[in-house]
Amino acid sequence: MKILGISGSPRKESTSRLVQEVLDATGEDTEFISLKGKNIAGCIACLGCVKENVCVVKDDMQELRQKIVDADAYVIGAANYFMTMNGLAHCFLERWYQFRHREGKSVTGKLAVAVGVGGAMGTPVADQIETFMAYNLIDTVGKVSGQGAACCFICGYGETCKVGAVQMLFGPECKITEEIIPKIEKQPKVLAAAQAAGRALGERLRSGNDRASTAQKVAAYLGERFKEAT
Ligand SMILES: Cc1cc2nc3c(=O)[nH]c(=O)nc-3n(C[C@H](O)[C@H](O)[C@H](O)COP(=O)(O)O)c2cc1C
Repeated sequence: MKILGISGSPRKESTSRLVQEVLDATGEDTEFISLKGKNIAGCIACLGCVKENVCVVKDDMQELRQKIVDADAYVIGAANYFMTMNGLAHCFLERWYQFRHREGKSVTGKLAVAVGVGGAMGTPVADQIETFMAYNLIDTVGKVSGQGAACCFICGYGETCKVGAVQMLFGPECKITEEIIPKIEKQPKVLAAAQAAGRALGERLRSGNDRASTAQKVAAYLGERFKEAT
């Protein structure tokens, strides 16, 4: 079984670390890719993907497409920017629109773990990744959230900036020291949750994931959410 791990953060920091923790616990063959430095635009709704389920926009998503198709499961991570997932991760996931048309079967019924990281919280981002996965009829078997270091810890003005994360988290008299900088390694509960999610993903794959029934289950869940919203 092949599991593709993607960190959608433009930095190779805490999101990458947490995605890797999940991957390592799966016990399966894994590949990790950071989207840092990649050129991936958002979906432009050109509908060029409708007939063949292949996006026609020429950028770094092209090389990632085959890896997505070949993988049996995904560990997708993104960073919390303004309480939503960071733009690069959003662009990347928008482009999964190419898999949805004309009963495209490239990803439906596969499995995922969603990873969200924020300077304060990653939970909303993990929830958003789960929604993206559901739209492609992918079952999210686990969600993990952790706290990373906001840029305010290294920008040079963190101790005095009144609107920055340092004062928000630790108050106006705060001094930045190594001890107070959030790191995934310092969060045993988060690491344990990541390992549990990775193990659960590996076990689901090894027990034989019937993609047709998984897709049906996610479609029913989506249907319920549509009903609630209308
Ligand atoms: C533009 C921007 C907006 C951010 N907004 C939030 C936010 O609303 N909530 C939050 O918890 N963290 C926020 N952060 C902090 C990041 O989520 C944090 O630095 C996290 O560690 C990023 O993941 P990474 O370490 O993998 O890059 C923001 C960071 C940036 C650069």
